[in-house]
Amino acid sequence: MKKIRSTHSLGAPAPQDSAHLQVQGRAEYTDDIAELPGTLYGAFGLSEHAHAQILSIDLQAVRSAPGVQAVYLAADIPGVNDCGPLTHDDPVLADGVLQYVGQPLFLVIARSEEQARRAARLGRVNCQPLPAILDVKQAHAAQSYVSAPLSLARGDLNAAFAAAHDVAQGEFAIGGQEHFYLEGQVAYALPREDGQLLVYSSTQHPTEMQHVVAHVCALPFHQVQVLCRRIGGGFGGKESQSAIWAAAAAFAAHKLQRPVKLRADRDDDFCISGKRHPFLHQYRVAYDREGMILGADVQMLLSCGFSHDLSTPVANRAISHVDNAYFLPAVQAQAWCCKTNTQSHTAFRGFGCPQGVMAIEYALDDIARKLGKDALDVRLANLYRAAPANTTHYGQEVDGKLLQQLMRQLEQDSDYRARRSAINAFNQQNAYLQKGLALTPVKFGIAFNLGLLNQAGALVHVYTDGSVLVAHGGIEMGQGLHIKVMQVVAHEFGLPLSAIKIAPTDTARIPNTSATAASSGTDLNGGAARDAARNVRQRLARLAASQFNCSMDEVLFMDGMVRGNGREISFAALAQQAWAARIQLWSDGFYATPGLHWDAAKKQGAPYFYFAHGAAVAEVLLDTLSGEWKLTRADILYDAGQSLNPAIDIGQIEGGFVQGMGWLTTEQLVWDAQGRLRTHAPSTYKIPAVSCVPQDVRVNLYEGVNHRQSLYGSKAVGEPPLVLGAAVFFALRDAVSACAQHQINPPLQAPAGGEALLDAIDFVRAKAAA
Ligand code: MTE
Ligand code: MOS
Repeated sequence: MKKIRSTHSLGAPAPQDSAHLQVQGRAEYTDDIAELPGTLYGAFGLSEHAHAQILSIDLQAVRSAPGVQAVYLAADIPGVNDCGPLTHDDPVLADGVLQYVGQPLFLVIARSEEQARRAARLGRVNCQPLPAILDVKQAHAAQSYVSAPLSLARGDLNAAFAAAHDVAQGEFAIGGQEHFYLEGQVAYALPREDGQLLVYSSTQHPTEMQHVVAHVCALPFHQVQVLCRRIGGGFGGKESQSAIWAAAAAFAAHKLQRPVKLRADRDDDFCISGKRHPFLHQYRVAYDREGMILGADVQMLLSCGFSHDLSTPVANRAISHVDNAYFLPAVQAQAWCCKTNTQSHTAFRGFGCPQGVMAIEYALDDIARKLGKDALDVRLANLYRAAPANTTHYGQEVDGKLLQQLMRQLEQDSDYRARRSAINAFNQQNAYLQKGLALTPVKFGIAFNLGLLNQAGALVHVYTDGSVLVAHGGIEMGQGLHIKVMQVVAHEFGLPLSAIKIAPTDTARIPNTSATAASSGTDLNGGAARDAARNVRQRLARLAASQFNCSMDEVLFMDGMVRGNGREISFAALAQQAWAARIQLWSDGFYATPGLHWDAAKKQGAPYFYFAHGAAVAEVLLDTLSGEWKLTRADILYDAGQSLNPAIDIGQIEGGFVQGMGWLTTEQLVWDAQGRLRTHAPSTYKIPAVSCVPQDVRVNLYEGVNHRQSLYGSKAVGEPPLVLGAAVFFALRDAVSACAQHQINPPLQAPAGGEALLDAIDFVRAKAAA
């Protein structure tokens, strides 16, 4: 390909393409789409049992409630009653057996949303309760799984333990996390001529919604079109979990031949949809006198909920990130996907990586305290470094030098050592207030672990006025995908951003897409858009070269002009001429991530295209009497390669970090003994507020280049920064341990809410006194 001709669009801190609409409330979301006359509204009747055999269902009162047009049960579904992404164990409507409290059992269609919701509460179900498994250990003991166990291993673990100076071991429970997208789950389905369906879905995965709708309605894929302009946040919660709404709205619309909208209110959304997987880690880590890890055995029990959903790939990412940024000479990482009677847990920003990382970070934290060292020193010592300490347990090479430099740079930039001394002095002088400090890294593999998903398509249309419409298969969810793709196309054509527009994501434009997930939205769709743009540019360059009397290579696209041989023409005029000369002004484009390989038998290979890296320092102030705390300062250094858009990237870093902090501290999901989720609204489930973000947040981008052939040397940014929220958790653990002069490892579990903190403080104080 030709040299890059900079137009200053790449690397510019351009705002989101629809920011001006969003701040005015004019950006259109699924629920904002003008409804057609005759639109009906749906609501689900939900299970009140964690596990029960259905004996009979009395829907008399539902059917006769005001406004009700139809009531559907599983048997009314025209096609397959399933919306599972990988395994067919995810009924749209419960059939025969109820598997969690909140599971949709019937669908009410009424003239208004309120009528549908009121009627949905009137169902009477006669059930035979069955034993429910709500605890992950109980599930493991009963061998209740949604899929086969997974493992990755390397080295001689027995030898490592035999040679160990000591072993850090224990259990570490990590709670789940509600996605809390601002825009809840919603779908609007419209019957079209000849049995076709148009479905507006708030989803990260239009193609899968198309497939699910087709299966549920017994239609071929070409009869179903799924459209999405943007979503108000997904965070993984609309990768597979949007399906139940899309499927139910669609089959009702199909049966009634009327438009049907299905929108969950917040409480129902909480109760129906799956969350981040809660994990229970059982870890044993062997180390030497210096704190170097010799071997790590981590058994992970995932609470998967009642169905498979994406649990296997989540578990896979967890065991392949249990090393985080550290060289583990011997490892055994095993994941058990436990089936429990709750919502079916799913993708959530980081997709298992954050949970895997927490296991090794927890053990390193233990080791440091046992050896009387600063945890940062133990972390630095164990970082990936020169060969042979630069390959992961699955055989992929890591840039140890980059990790070393990034960590050292943040240590200096954040003034870590001086602050440590100051904190020690503060803690000596204060009886009740204690400060804590922690620096933790992240190394995150970029690509879908399943190689075939790493592909994308795009269409670039140049119109005769020189304006450009780009369609690609990715979903804009607030992460800035569209503006980055616009920057790519603007760069290739030498056009201002204002000349580029992104079309709504549409299965009828770009088929067979992967979810916008795994942080690879820009890599994939940007790659496909670049390909399409270059195809058109090539044709335009040929035309220009013939007019300018120069070679194609001498033709430059910049500043809205096309130049060569001392002559120039505006891009728009050239487009017009190309049309008149019957030259194709639009093109498709395709991208398949190169260089991925995985030997499934040996469990070795290079499943990731590259690694994104980062590190964060968190400082907290903890009131050891009340358990209240605040984050007083955060320093973050993140490796976005050659950032395509530093403003967007920094926003992603800040948002990810705060979301990770919420997961590990205040966001607590509580299921009661009956399996009812008791925290199903913002009144009881506490996500970070503006006031939780400290005044002093310093985010910097690490100056580096992606050595792989990525999109202009950039690196992904969507998920990895969430893992940096770990620094807040470990700073809190540090503050708790300060209550006993760092002599005792606090048995702090996640989320570290007020109660968990007070329990841990009591524990270390009692132990120190004993
Ligand atoms: N940022 C915002 N504002 N909203 C979101 O829903 N989802 C995250 C991340 N950042 C999300 C977000 C998740 S889970 C992923 S996988 C990536 O964005 C997906 O987008 P990308 O691949 O374009 O980075
Ligand atoms: Mo993100 S969890 O891969 O949608």
